[in-house]
Amino acid sequence: LSTIRVDVSGIEEGTQLTVKWLGKPIFIRRRTTAEIEEARAVDVAELAIDPMSRNANQPGTDAADENRSLADFEGNNTGEWLVMQGVCTHLGCVPLGDGAGEYNGWFCPCHGSHYDTSGRIRKGPAPENLPVPPAAFVDETTILLG
Ligand code: FES
Repeated sequence: LSTIRVDVSGIEEGTQLTVKWLGKPIFIRRRTTAEIEEARAVDVAELAIDPMSRNANQPGTDAADENRSLADFEGNNTGEWLVMQGVCTHLGCVPLGDGAGEYNGWFCPCHGSHYDTSGRIRKGPAPENLPVPPAAFVDETTILLG
């Protein structure tokens, strides 16, 4: 199957669930208000390494956090939900999460790439933001991947 449904009702604020989709880890994070504010306070001009959203749902858009987070079932993109492939864009290690790294998001221990609370590459050898896969809420607590 190339699509899967994920029940996100058990994900507490400030935690993430990792599921496998097409053989790759997908991080589904329910962000805290602080994480959302930090992600949305960043000017796209600061995103020197990769200024693009890398979001399959919004191709060609810039890396503003609003272009990476997932809208809820009502269509509100409050920033609460961030869904992305948990594979470092350098050489494919799985980054550590839960506020890791210098930008409080994810850190790849293989060669030291730092991703922010939107999963955007901010420092280190990785060339691109963590990609956002095709995803959408199909009811209030279920995300369809693919
Ligand atoms: Fe992540 Fe190299 S694989 S920094």
